[in-house]
Amino acid sequence: MIDPGERKERMAERFRQIYGRDPQAWRRAPGRVDLMGSHTDYNQGYVMTMTIDRDTWVAAASRPDRRVAICSMNIAGCNEFSLDELKQPLQLPASATDWTSYVAGVAWAMGADGWPVSGFDGLVHSTVPFGSGLSSSAALEMAVAALFEALGGYRVERLRLAQLGQRAENQYVGMNCGILDQFSSVMGQAGSTILLDCRSLSGQIIPMPPDLAVAICDTRLERHLAGTEYSERRAQCEEGARILGGIYPQVRTLRDVSAEMLSRHRADLPEVVYRRCKFIVQEDQRVLELADCLPEGDRARLGELFSASFAGARDLYEISVPAMQAMHAAMSAAPGVVGARQAGAGFGGCLVALVENARADTFAEYVSQAYTRSTGIQPNVYTVQASDGAGRLA
Ligand code: GLA
Repeated sequence: MIDPGERKERMAERFRQIYGRDPQAWRRAPGRVDLMGSHTDYNQGYVMTMTIDRDTWVAAASRPDRRVAICSMNIAGCNEFSLDELKQPLQLPASATDWTSYVAGVAWAMGADGWPVSGFDGLVHSTVPFGSGLSSSAALEMAVAALFEALGGYRVERLRLAQLGQRAENQYVGMNCGILDQFSSVMGQAGSTILLDCRSLSGQIIPMPPDLAVAICDTRLERHLAGTEYSERRAQCEEGARILGGIYPQVRTLRDVSAEMLSRHRADLPEVVYRRCKFIVQEDQRVLELADCLPEGDRARLGELFSASFAGARDLYEISVPAMQAMHAAMSAAPGVVGARQAGAGFGGCLVALVENARADTFAEYVSQAYTRSTGIQPNVYTVQASDGAGRLA
């Protein structure tokens, strides 16, 4: 991991090369990993989430002309746009947007919500891997939102800030995501996991046992079809909630559906919709059970919950791909593993494991070798720690 002092120095140097002056404001926001709760957020369910110690930094200096110039140290090419030409969402398909749309989208969402946004020259550097399910987009959005706050000298209420990031992504970039990523990136707390209730939009801190580590196992397979498949899953869940809502008036989303209601009305749902609903209803339950058993670190229970989540994602929600299965097999056989499952939206990207702290290195070594043997791909395996949510540099 790059030393923070060196990282700042390299960014400042690059900033001077590009803009010919020093940056005045610095802000950061972290990526996240979900420990349980795949695709539950847009069903107003529960997620166990934590930030990771990989984040996006933005360095900036104000400019008076209401234009934003933005460059990245990770991706070649800069962009420049006027804050006065963001009045309508672009509503481009996600495939037609580039990373700077997230920056413009945040400016648009904050401006539309009445917050003054001013022009700046900016430079971004991220240690959150892209397209691997660790919310690199939310980290960028929230770092930029925190930057607009800093430049404007105001502070938006934290939940509101997360919602503005989500609005940027939903209405400007065109990705119909839930609140999970932005909430995590803003609300994260160093050393803690959060039980997020996506209906009340409140988070509860759940302590992590000190002898357990969280390991990220990146298949290095960029997510495929994540956009279209994601919208399709979301529509299937909404269809299930609509049908069950016609039978039970209290059902607004799958959050309100119990396992009994679902099995009683199995025949009323299209088969694929039934399977999607079954996964979500069970996954919500697993999140609550995880919140209950994580602090004591009950190994057997943790292992069962993680395995059941992975099996449900593969067989019922169908967001798994062969590389994820190869990775899961490697993780499940590795020394020190307590539980292993998918992370993020699925269709490639990362998996996540709870691992005995003392065996984290052997776990990583074993997983790398086993996964490479079965797929020919060299994965990235590393442990992460929860870091603080969006704001100033530490
Ligand atoms: C993506 C979305 C989130 C959430 C997860 C799946 O990360 O951005 O809102 O739906 O997928 O849990």
